[in-house]
Amino acid sequence: APPVRRICCIGAGYVGGPTCSVIALNCPDITVHIADINAARIAAWNSDPDPVTGELVNLPVYEPGLAEVVKKCRGRNLFFTTDIEKAIEEADLVFVSVNTPTKKSGMGKGFAADLHYVEASTRLIASVSSSSKIIVEKSTVPCRTAASMRTILEANARPGLHFDILSNPEFLAEGTAVQDLQNPDRVLIGSLKTKEGELAARRLKDVYAHWVPREKVYTTGLWSSELSKLAANALLAQRISSINAMAAICEATGADVQEVAHACGLDKRIGPNFLKASVGFGGSCFQKDILNLVYLSESLNLPQVADYWKQVITMNEYSKSRFAQKVVSTLFNTITAKKVAVLGFAFKKNTGDTRESAAISLCRYFRQENAFVAIYDPKVPEAQIWLDLTEPGVVDDTKQVKEQVTIHKSVQSACKDAEAVVIATEWDEFKTLDWEAIYASMKKPAFVFDGRAIVDPKKLRQVGFKVHTVGQGPEIVDPIWA
Ligand code: NAI
Repeated sequence: APPVRRICCIGAGYVGGPTCSVIALNCPDITVHIADINAARIAAWNSDPDPVTGELVNLPVYEPGLAEVVKKCRGRNLFFTTDIEKAIEEADLVFVSVNTPTKKSGMGKGFAADLHYVEASTRLIASVSSSSKIIVEKSTVPCRTAASMRTILEANARPGLHFDILSNPEFLAEGTAVQDLQNPDRVLIGSLKTKEGELAARRLKDVYAHWVPREKVYTTGLWSSELSKLAANALLAQRISSINAMAAICEATGADVQEVAHACGLDKRIGPNFLKASVGFGGSCFQKDILNLVYLSESLNLPQVADYWKQVITMNEYSKSRFAQKVVSTLFNTITAKKVAVLGFAFKKNTGDTRESAAISLCRYFRQENAFVAIYDPKVPEAQIWLDLTEPGVVDDTKQVKEQVTIHKSVQSACKDAEAVVIATEWDEFKTLDWEAIYASMKKPAFVFDGRAIVDPKKLRQVGFKVHTVGQGPEIVDPIWA
């Protein structure tokens, strides 16, 4: 494999877009084409800057700092295209960064990864290539997918061509993608332990070496690399479910989960990060990757392992339903015809992504209780919210959704005449709201349910609110001290 001069990325989504934009930024000597079958998405990546501010405000993915990176590189060594075949044909190295959602039907339904986008990309690479290439799995895939890709390539490619397959899972977190890509904790590259495999891994390492210290690039075998991505997400999600399980105990006892998390996190073996109790995790990856791991374990005849990881998801579902139930029971056991303001719809702050967002589940619970739901999010487009709330199979009655749900352009408007405010996403702007004004416009008693523990309950109580913070028990006043 020669040094990499031209890169093609198949898939211009949340991973392909930011990842390969950052490669283009750091590697001015490499030409990067990001290709996608979704023409609207490519058009958005190629959209014009705002005529007044000059900023790229219409990119399909919102990430802090991303617009600046794209602006700097686009048209220089970074191109977005729907001409996938040409982009593949010209490349020395192809990232496969397509979606790998949970299968919705057939064998492994609800658990296994749907690999047909990966396979379609692989077949396309085989059919259009007239030169040898390095193929890199960027998508999160089950262990041993690289072997299937190689078989497909070898069976379909022109004679004499050689393809090296690498696994290079992506560890970026949405909301901090650019920062994570610029300064990753590690870059993982898996390859076959053959001479060619190791040379291909070195070529990819040379790309990252433009900006990542070489000691941060860890090379392993293919299967370890593939499994490490599933393992890392399972461990992260497990930490959230673990602290959320503690939150339930805290709420029942009067302990405070923030204090418990802090006390535990001081132990070096545990560490302080990723111990924040919440209404439950969301995002396109955690649940999907754990389900995938569960399926893998079951197919390897390891049912105890499968059950162990399944419990992480069960606990997450419980966190969401427990929170919704808390809202209903606190509002005197009925929210029928009451207005509930939901602040935040994205699955976490600093992203417009709503996939598997806890807010979707909360809105569904509130709707089932016949409440009026008023939603505000600073970044999620209105059309996306409607799509999430009326997705076929989730809610069948679009008309009724529109009767029960309103989408607002400000917090103040969402909260007007509401009985309760539910904080579903930890957007920074919710920390500095004018709570006095919000209180004045609400029905009384006015409730705040903080699903992210981001506002100070004492301050809100001074304003007059009744407050529930996830993981905080009621302030129990012991009669001895009263
Ligand atoms: P996405 O859905 O945002 O993007 C995937 C893109 O691939 C879509 O735009 C789709 O049109 C395109 N695509 C599908 N088939 C294609 C084909 N045959 N030819 C050309 N384009 C095609 O998905 P996202 O979030 O970027 O995820 C991609 C992969 O990365 C998944 O396997 C995911 O598990 C993994 N991942 C995601 C992370 C995240 O934070 N979203 C983080 C780390 C890994």
